[in-house]
Formats: sequence, structure tokens, C-alpha cells
Amino acid sequence: MDEGNFYLERIGEVVPVEQDVLERLFNEFLELDHIYDSAAKTVETQLRIYDNEFSMRYKRNPIHSIDSRIKSGKSIMGKLQRKGLPMTAQSAQKNLTDIAGIRVVCYYIDDIYAIAELLTRRGDFEVIKLKDYIKNPKPSGYRSFHMVVMVPVYMSTKKMTVPVEIQIRTIAMDFWASLEHQLHYKTDSIVPDDLKEELRELAGTIAETDLRMQDIYEQINEL
Ligand code: GTP
Ligand code: MG
Repeated sequence: MDEGNFYLERIGEVVPVEQDVLERLFNEFLELDHIYDSAAKTVETQLRIYDNEFSMRYKRNPIHSIDSRIKSGKSIMGKLQRKGLPMTAQSAQKNLTDIAGIRVVCYYIDDIYAIAELLTRRGDFEVIKLKDYIKNPKPSGYRSFHMVVMVPVYMSTKKMTVPVEIQIRTIAMDFWASLEHQLHYKTDSIVPDDLKEELRELAGTIAETDLRMQDIYEQINEL
């Protein structure tokens, strides 16, 4: 492919893109970026409010850390292409629910459900997707609580509502997911079956440890 030009691949056919089309796409993605970033910040602020309130009441923070990321234009295009969807900002907005992503790392498993419940109860974040990979781990062993909420963003002339994907997990689950992700990345996803099985088993060990830590916390709390 010619490095100097920009090309779009549409189902089996590579087409060069005109400069003005490219500029329009760029501007559209710039606006998307701004809206999704604002939506992620709104959710993040709400999470910090819960964390502060909890800390004031119970002298303990449920949230260890919060990270957010906005998918780059390049990754958005890549995902649309993989799914055989039109490569426009409008199509991204309609078809992708993970342009804005927030990862919330909690101390204990119960904190995850408490945070998820608070977000669900909050009136103007409509929950459109819930996946409990803690109760139903993925075949890889991956555990986390995922939700997608619709978040209103108030701008000077309009209000837009966009999805934000929230992944809530414990420190232990995050430890496993980070290393497992890095291993896949390092090996181009060709991890041998026996190592995959070992990773799955380790995720189980970690889950067991999480439960025992929570149990200790509860026992100490009752002293
Ligand atoms: P995507 O198109 O990948 O977003 O699939 P999906 O919409 O079915 O989402 P899914 O519920 O599988 O979760 C997607 C996100 O969860 C990924 O982008 C990862 O951040 C995380 N995730 C899911 N499965 C795994 C896994 O096996 N290992 C790790 N490390 N992360 C995972
Ligand atoms: Mg994703």
C-alpha cells in the first residue's frame, strides 16, 4: 500500500480517499473524541463522589484506582473494518459502545457490586449492557464486571447521549487481566493451549484469594 496516501478498505476492495473526505472524517472524529471524553469525565467524577462519600462514612475507600481511555481514530476504524461496518464517525457512534472506556479497580468483590448498583440507580445513566464475568468467567479465566451506560453530555447548543463502557474489577482481577493481556500481545495471541489452561487455573486461584481476603475483611470488621 502506498504510504503517502490514505486508503480505506471496504469489504474486499481498497479505495483511495480524497483529501476533502479525509478532512471531513478527521473533523468528525475530533468531535466524537471531545464528546466521549466529556462523557467519560462525567462518569469518573461521579465515581470519585461515591468514593469520597464512602470514605467519609466508613473510613475506607472502595475504589483503588480509576483509568479512562478514549479509543483512537485508528482503532475505531480498525474495529469498524473488522466488523465489516461503514467507516464513518456516524457508523462508529451507532455501532460501537466502547469508544469511551473506564476501568475501576476496587479493593473487594463486594465493592464492585456496590459501585455497579450505585451507577445503575443513578437516574440519568441508562444501563444498556451488563456482563458479569465474575459470576460467569470467560473461557480464558477473565473476571470483571462490565457495564455500558448511556451518559448525557450537555454542550452549549445541544445535548448528546453517548455510551461509556465501564469495567469494574478487584486489584487481583486487574493483576491477572493486565499480565494475560500483555502475554497475548507479546505472542501475537498464539499462546499454546497448555499455557492457556495454566492461565485459566491461575485466574481461579486468584478468585479464591479474593474471596478469602474479603472473608478476612468481614471477620475483622466484626471484631
Ligand atoms: P470487544 O469487541 O472486544 O469489545 O468484545 P465484546 O463487546 O464482546 O466485549 P467483552 O465483554 O468481551 O469485553 C471486552 C473488553 O474486556 C476487552 O476489550 C478487554 O479489555 C476485556 N477482556 C475481555 N476478555 C478478556 C480476556 O480474556 N483477557 C483480558 N485480559 N481482557 C479481556
Ligand atoms: Mg472492547
